[in-house]
Amino acid sequence: MDKKTKRIIVGISGASGAVYAQRIIGLLLSADVETHLVVSPLGQRLLHEELGMEGVNLAALAGLSGGDDQSPPPPNLILHNYRDVGAPIASGSFQHDGMIVIPCTSNTLGCVANGSAQNLMHRAAHVTLKERRKLVLVHREMPLSLVDIRNMQAVTEAGGIIAPANPGFYMLPQTIDGLIDFVVGRCLDLLGVDHTLNVRWSEQGPTNTQDKPGGKRPQGEVGAGPR
Ligand SMILES: Cc1cc2nc3c(=O)[nH]c(=O)nc-3n(C[C@H](O)[C@H](O)[C@H](O)COP(=O)(O)O)c2cc1C
Repeated sequence: MDKKTKRIIVGISGASGAVYAQRIIGLLLSADVETHLVVSPLGQRLLHEELGMEGVNLAALAGLSGGDDQSPPPPNLILHNYRDVGAPIASGSFQHDGMIVIPCTSNTLGCVANGSAQNLMHRAAHVTLKERRKLVLVHREMPLSLVDIRNMQAVTEAGGIIAPANPGFYMLPQTIDGLIDFVVGRCLDLLGVDHTLNVRWSEQGPTNTQDKPGGKRPQGEVGAGPR
């Protein structure tokens, strides 16, 4: 591997929010990150339910225009078989810069928390923890049971990061894309990948008020501050 090439593993599990996965993959590829992908069967179903995708369409996940079945897959987006626990990313010898499961189900959270690894996604997550690399789980469920909360605690104690799909509103998003980008931007920050998404709070308030009707933050409309 070229020493300067960043490598990130992306897991897509069967929680709502497939669009987060699509957006982050597009941005990782734009940032020249070699992106290793593993999708659970329910993750594949969510790609179909929420994005209308047939199978795992790499061109569409990369955000390439068209993204039809004939489009060639981007060379630096590598899909691994979910069942193949012998794939390179299952080994601690595979050098990478972090793994993110986005969106992450309560099921996958629980398997990671409890060390069960019957498939490549859970195995790669365990290996990421044991090698003390960065593991980010973008959990999506509400409300939370005590089981989920305890699993989050276990993953956090093992060094993982629970980053719920939980957008802030203080940047005054005007579109669904704005909400998606808030979550994705914070995830890219956690993975140490550069981006220009509008997630930075400043003392002056949102750095981008162009989205706001009228273009300016109204007087007296003071957000609660950065999170
Ligand atoms: C349309 C749909 C939406 C779902 N949304 C969620 C969700 O937001 N969070 C969650 O934990 N599970 C959700 N599930 C349930 C999981 O997909 C299910 O528990 C599955 O076994 C998870 O497997 P995986 O972790 O291997 O992807 C959803 C299922 C379907 C079909």
